Amino acid sequence: MINDIKYIAMEAGKIIREGFGKSFSYEYKTNESNIVTEIDKKAEEIIKEFIIKNYSTHSILAEESGETFNNPEYVWVVDPLDGTTNFTHGLPIFSVSIGLQKNNKTIAGVVYDVMNNTLYSAEIDKGSYCNDIRLQVSPQNRLAHSLAVTGFPYDIADNPKNALELFTKIIKKTRGVRRLGSAAIDFCYVASGVFDIFWEVHLNPWDFCAGQLIVEEAGGKVTDFKGNQIRLTSSTILCTNSNLHDTMLKELIL
Ligand code: IPD
Ligand code: CA
Ligand code: CA
Repeated sequence: MINDIKYIAMEAGKIIREGFGKSFSYEYKTNESNIVTEIDKKAEEIIKEFIIKNYSTHSILAEESGETFNNPEYVWVVDPLDGTTNFTHGLPIFSVSIGLQKNNKTIAGVVYDVMNNTLYSAEIDKGSYCNDIRLQVSPQNRLAHSLAVTGFPYDIADNPKNALELFTKIIKKTRGVRRLGSAAIDFCYVASGVFDIFWEVHLNPWDFCAGQLIVEEAGGKVTDFKGNQIRLTSSTILCTNSNLHDTMLKELIL
């Protein structure tokens, strides 16, 4: 199945790449910062069509169209365009993220970094890869020497879960905190050993399903802010190279 997931992630990526820098229509979702473009919708459509055609008994959880209920044994968790704000403003950092769960456990994950034409993938117990290169998280164990990345939810104006206080605190204790704007790519950079830490106060399942497996299969750790195992209903997300996990869990308490 992994080859099918890679194939359709790249097909969706082609649509996104073709739309990049052109004019496209968009709508607001929850507020004027949170938008969905016609390209998000087109990318999601072709991914769903592919799943329905080739895996007709499987269920789908996709960001823009919600759930397609079928046999709950297999669930495809789809973010057709992760980084819509970047895409809309012409910043070439965005991805397609597809995770596949079997009996509530993620067994495969693919993140396609569209403009770098780079494919991150993982299968459970088989390691994770960037194209054909095996990934390994960083060995860093000092917070002061680490590079972190975070993101902010669309309701940041309400400062949910003290997102801004946490940012202020952690930026002072690390070498820096970046904000790339695509959570799926943030996970892949932790898996690659570029970032040592990624946290976010609120993510949705399509933001983290694939990325979580890619990080874990590269030796990293992903939990919620209390250290609990991630499920599709999780909201707070801490992702590290494993070494820094306990330290960060303490830092995320204000
Ligand atoms: C967003 C991106 C961003 C993160 C937001 C997500 P979207 O996803 O992953 O990096 O900070 O929380 O909602 O809306 O571009 O698919
Ligand atoms: Ca997303
Ligand atoms: Ca999205």
